[in-house]
Amino acid sequence: MQSITITKPDDFHLHIRDGDYMKCVVKHSAAQFARAIIMPNLRPPVLTTDDADAYRQRILSALNNQHDFEPLMTLYLTDNTSPEEIEKAAKSGFVKALKYYPAGATTNSDQGVTDIKKAYPALKAMSDHGLLLLMHGEVTESHIDIFDRETIFIDKVLKNLVTDFPNLKIVFEHITTRSAVEFVMQADSHVAATITPQHLLLSRNDLFRGGLRPHHYCLPILKAEDDRQAIMSAATSGNPKFFLGTDSAPHSSILKESACGCAGIYTAHIAMELYAEAFARADRLDKLEAFASNFGADFYGLPRNTGSITLIKKEQAVPESFPFANDTLTPYRAGETCAWRIQ
Ligand code: DOR
Ligand code: ZN
Repeated sequence: MQSITITKPDDFHLHIRDGDYMKCVVKHSAAQFARAIIMPNLRPPVLTTDDADAYRQRILSALNNQHDFEPLMTLYLTDNTSPEEIEKAAKSGFVKALKYYPAGATTNSDQGVTDIKKAYPALKAMSDHGLLLLMHGEVTESHIDIFDRETIFIDKVLKNLVTDFPNLKIVFEHITTRSAVEFVMQADSHVAATITPQHLLLSRNDLFRGGLRPHHYCLPILKAEDDRQAIMSAATSGNPKFFLGTDSAPHSSILKESACGCAGIYTAHIAMELYAEAFARADRLDKLEAFASNFGADFYGLPRNTGSITLIKKEQAVPESFPFANDTLTPYRAGETCAWRIQ
């Protein structure tokens, strides 16, 4: 039996929602990770340091202090985020970053940024005060092919941004394309990227394998096999610019299985097991610890975790569903298996 013990990992991109929904999912992440970057796309979004403080308290109380888990908070960047709010966020210590959603790009992004130039005063303040910019890197024009939106974002937005803000730390979130990998590799040390388990394990064929698969629909959408291979090479390369962010995104099963299903794949229940499966397939398990436990913390300027987890190659069955407030949640691999488990 294969097994691997690594420093306790962190999830640098996580959605846990709020209220009774949060209570159903946050424990999965807390069981695996020491810390997680908590996404702010609630309804209404987490706009201010005070909002983030209150949300953080709700997360900690949902965990009943049973887990040693630190939520790392983010604010939702808008056209109107003020430099004063940025300064306050930086001084709080618990807000680490701002999340950029192009308006209309994805779930709860309607209050996002309509034109990046409108956010320049906030970005300047972030650069000055050392807060990171986490980017949902897709253009939103409806005429642009959904599979090209990330690549076009690089040319239209990201290249200018890194020139205009050379000292701003930018995380290109959940990258999905060979062009994103190449961009991040050639950029300077202020630019990094997170990689999800689904973009390592699935390609766009998996959206249509034997029929339409709403539980494989996320944004950015799954890409071609060549892109998947580029993402896999990046994640397992040992390059510190690429690190773990699950983008685990819970939705009610009925909302995903509807005529207009929403985007998001729930992976928090087996997140590390999925990464182990992917790295083992590439025969690069030796690179998992740095990707999952070191590079993200280093990029964020956080201390590395103490403590460890052990993953063993032993199949586990995944439930058909989890309770999700008054609904159910269909997790990734529902009713199937995962090749690894946490000891
Ligand atoms: O698939 C996604 N789901 N992509 C996102 O960008 C947002 C997320 C969510 O919040 O459900
Ligand atoms: Zn996300």
